[in-house]
Amino acid sequence: MISGHEERGGSNREDQEPASFHEPSALTEREFLGYQKLVHREAGIWLSEAKRALLMGRVARRLRELGGLSFGAYLKRVEEDEAERVRLLDALCTHETHFFREPRHFELLEREVLPHWRAQRDTGNGEGRRVRVWSAGCSTGEEPFTLAMVLRHHLPAEEGWHIDILATDLSTRILEQARRALWPLDKSREIPKPYLRYMLKGTGSQEGRMKAGPELRSLVRFQRVNLNDGHGVVGRFDLVFCRNVLIYFDAASKARALERLVEHLSPRGLLFLGHSESLTGLGWKFRTVMPTVYALRALAGEAAPRG
Ligand SMILES: C[S@@+](CC[C@H](N)C(=O)[O-])C[C@H]1O[C@@H](n2cnc3c(N)ncnc32)[C@H](O)[C@@H]1O
Repeated sequence: MISGHEERGGSNREDQEPASFHEPSALTEREFLGYQKLVHREAGIWLSEAKRALLMGRVARRLRELGGLSFGAYLKRVEEDEAERVRLLDALCTHETHFFREPRHFELLEREVLPHWRAQRDTGNGEGRRVRVWSAGCSTGEEPFTLAMVLRHHLPAEEGWHIDILATDLSTRILEQARRALWPLDKSREIPKPYLRYMLKGTGSQEGRMKAGPELRSLVRFQRVNLNDGHGVVGRFDLVFCRNVLIYFDAASKARALERLVEHLSPRGLLFLGHSESLTGLGWKFRTVMPTVYALRALAGEAAPRG
C-alpha cells in the first residue's frame, strides 16, 4: 500500500499493515498537542509551534524503523512504554556541544577560582581537598571532560587534590557515548595545546579518533538524571554547570529545575549557566560573579526582595 490519504486522521490501519515505502501520516493538531503535553510533563521541554517540523522529522525516522506506524499510534505507544518514551526524548533533545564551549567560564576557573582554592588550601592544614563538580545536561561528554582537563591540570593529584565530576543527562543514548569518551580527532582543535596531553590519539583501527586518557576517565562518573523530576543526585557540589539545557524548558519547569540545582550547590559553590540563560526568579539568592556565573549570597543578613 503506497497511498497517502488513507493514513491521515490517525487511523490505526498501518499498525496492522506496515508499509516500508510510504511517508508517515500527517500529524494532526490533536496529536501534536498530545506530544507537546507528554514531552513537557516528562522533560520540562516546551515544544512550541515552531518545533512542529522538528518533532515530525525526528519522530518520522522512528516511525519508519517501526514499519510505518502513524504519529497517533506512536503517541499511544510512548504513553504506555517507558523505554520508547526515553527513546522519543532522546530523539527530540538537541545535543550540540563542544570542548571549551563558552571559554570565559574556563578562563574564570583558571585565573581566579582554582588559584583561590589553592591559596585557601595552602593556608589550611595542608591536607588534600576534595572537589565535587556536576555537569548537568552533559551531552556527549565534552563539557565534563573539559572540566576534568582544567581541574586536573591546576589541581594535581600529587598535591592531594581529589576530583569527582558527576556527568548527567536525560538521554541514555547520549550518556553511553559520553561514557566511551571517544570523539573524532577533528575535535582536538577545540582543545588548547596544554590540555591535549590528557587525550590519546587513536592508531590502527582507532585512526581518526581521540579518547580521553585513563587519568581523565577516572575523574568522571555518569548517571541518567532528569532535571525535570526529583532526580537522585546526592550531596553538594563546588561547581554546578547547567549550560544550554534549561533554554528548552518552559518558565515554570525551568524555575523548579533551578531550585533543585541550587539545593546541590555548596555554600561557597558557583553555578554556571549558558550564555543566553538567566536565573528566572532566583536572582535574589545569588550574586553575579560574571555574566552567567553565580555565587550564593551569604544566608545571614540577606533577605528576599519584597513583592
Ligand atoms: C545542547 S546540550 C548542552 C550540552 C552542554 N551542557 C553544553 O553546554 O555544551 C543539552 C543537553 O541537555 C539534555 N537535556 C534536555 N532536557 C533534559 C532534562 N530534562 N534533564 C536532563 N538533561 C536534559 C539533552 O539531552 C542534551 O544532551
